[in-house]
Amino acid sequence: MNLSSSEIRRLLTTSDPTAVDALMEEAERVRDEVYGRRVFMRGLIEVSNHCRNNCLYCGIRRDADCRRYRLSPEQIMDCCRVGHELGFRTFVLQGGEDAWFTDERVCQLVRGIKEAYPDSAVTLSLGERDYDSYARLREAGADRYLLRHETANRVHYGRLHPAEMSFDHRMQCLRDLRRLGYQVGAGFMVGSPYQTLDTLMEDLRFIADFRPEMVGIGPFIPAAGTPFEQEPAGSVELTLRLLAIIRLLHPQVLLPATTALGTLHPTGRERAIAAGANVVMPNLSPQDTRALYSIYNNKLATGSEAAESVADLRLRMQAIGMEMPVERGDFKGKS
Ligand code: 5AD
Repeated sequence: MNLSSSEIRRLLTTSDPTAVDALMEEAERVRDEVYGRRVFMRGLIEVSNHCRNNCLYCGIRRDADCRRYRLSPEQIMDCCRVGHELGFRTFVLQGGEDAWFTDERVCQLVRGIKEAYPDSAVTLSLGERDYDSYARLREAGADRYLLRHETANRVHYGRLHPAEMSFDHRMQCLRDLRRLGYQVGAGFMVGSPYQTLDTLMEDLRFIADFRPEMVGIGPFIPAAGTPFEQEPAGSVELTLRLLAIIRLLHPQVLLPATTALGTLHPTGRERAIAAGANVVMPNLSPQDTRALYSIYNNKLATGSEAAESVADLRLRMQAIGMEMPVERGDFKGKS
């Protein structure tokens, strides 16, 4: 859809509730046209909170004083087994940039999962790696890769990350993943420190141009022990408007109702679905490690955020007229 920059700016800043309602309705209509009234579920497995990076916003950054853990391959396979029984057909292996997860180890894991569950997709979210590494993981059978760009503005990127991290390298990784045939996920936080309406417009421009198959956005939430711990959280309202605008700019996008939204608002996920989102990612990690993957404060890992409550989540989705099919839920469009 052809939304002009000035229309987008108006939608992001208006205090007219009728305009916002119309935006949400249009986003739902566009999603329903492409995917139907269906929400795809992904089982999120947080494989490690060790991280070599020191992102200023993140609660598991290198300098954070948090208890570290790492799941064993057996534990990860157990999560998949439980998840498959619960009806998950996508497994997301997410973690900090942990050197233990060498190409060899990740390839072995991916092959193991694809062998045991050939009907399921494997998504990796393990940060920045080099081209050859992404190529090996893809060769082993990984289908998708999530790597948020965090901000499309180079100066803003520099204020959220230490000097040793590079905006250009992040963007190069996204292009490499695309070239290797992954379904690629980008995304950003809403209300991160130093974000402005202009930097948000650059994020939307980037999404409209690059057309990532998946876009993860959620409000920034301060994390204890980080340089940004005193900063205010991002706005739920603004996040919902951005979800709707992203749906209109890129109708085929797979758009999750993120945990961060659910954390800030009790019905955050339902509201995200009503703004055009069509993916939920309940937590499949072992119960005792969930609290340790503390990328921000009070992160939800129980209730309907938890994979074992899919029945409950399915009811909540049915209550807003959405089905939750047992399927991979691939991107519907030309990559
Ligand atoms: N608040 C919200 N989201 C965060 N992330 C990291 N730290 C925070 C935070 N404090 C997001 C980043 C990262 C993803 C895994 O989680 O966008 O890419």
